[in-house]
Amino acid sequence: MREAILKRLSRRTYGEPLDEAEIREINSLIQDINKKTGLTLFLETHAEEAFASKKYTKGFIHHATSVILMKGPSNLSNLKEKIGYYGEGLVLDLVDRNYGTCWVAGTMDRSVFTEDDNETLVCVLIVGNVGVQDVPEKTVRSMIRMSVKKPQEMIEGDTEIPEWIMHAMDAVVKAPSAMNRQKPFFRFSGGILTAEVPDDYVMDLVDLGIAKRHFVESSGGWFDFGNGGAYHSGSEIV
Ligand SMILES: Cc1cc2nc3c(=O)[nH]c(=O)nc-3n(C[C@H](O)[C@H](O)[C@H](O)COP(=O)(O)O)c2cc1C
Repeated sequence: MREAILKRLSRRTYGEPLDEAEIREINSLIQDINKKTGLTLFLETHAEEAFASKKYTKGFIHHATSVILMKGPSNLSNLKEKIGYYGEGLVLDLVDRNYGTCWVAGTMDRSVFTEDDNETLVCVLIVGNVGVQDVPEKTVRSMIRMSVKKPQEMIEGDTEIPEWIMHAMDAVVKAPSAMNRQKPFFRFSGGILTAEVPDDYVMDLVDLGIAKRHFVESSGGWFDFGNGGAYHSGSEIV
């Protein structure tokens, strides 16, 4: 399994703000994604206002200064799922480079970020320098992750599920999800693998994109975008 998948966890206490070299490094990763996907991710290095009040952060987030605005044209097909899929690719690349990250949809003051007319800001990704986890971080994480699903709880098959799929499901259960609900669900039916989500919460499709990304990071291949999209082996066409 990719080391970044094993290493990744949501970080909620941050250290030194990003320096210029770090900002350049992160911007270059973002530009690559924007170029190939049509998303308009943007690194905002003065976002501390969004996390200034406990009223919004619930005391979860400390000293966050930089966020990546996870956004794209409102009319881009499968926008939320693409934010999840390509955003989690970015998360893993950031983890490779030892940055801390946390997807945030709720515990921030959203009004700090203005939206362009034709764009939708889906959520943000905090990015920053981190040290060892402190006690408040550990406490919040263990509280949110009181229960964690097993691979077999996130997939169903009409025949025995091949070992390579279960192997990739080990990476799926390690994926971040809003409020750790782990709602994405995989089906192996008639020899075809698909991934779906109930889509009854605003972040469900983001979670679906993230889960598909963790799957293909392990298996190779790619998924059709869309709720219930099918898996294909071979190299991705983007
Ligand atoms: C779309 C999305 C939105 C999230 N929003 C928040 C948030 O508002 N505040 C927060 O502290 N964590 C947030 N998280 C992080 C989840 O709580 C976290 O991924 C989950 O509990 C699993 O823990 P882990 O990422 O440490 O493995 C979010 C995650 C996702 C994928």
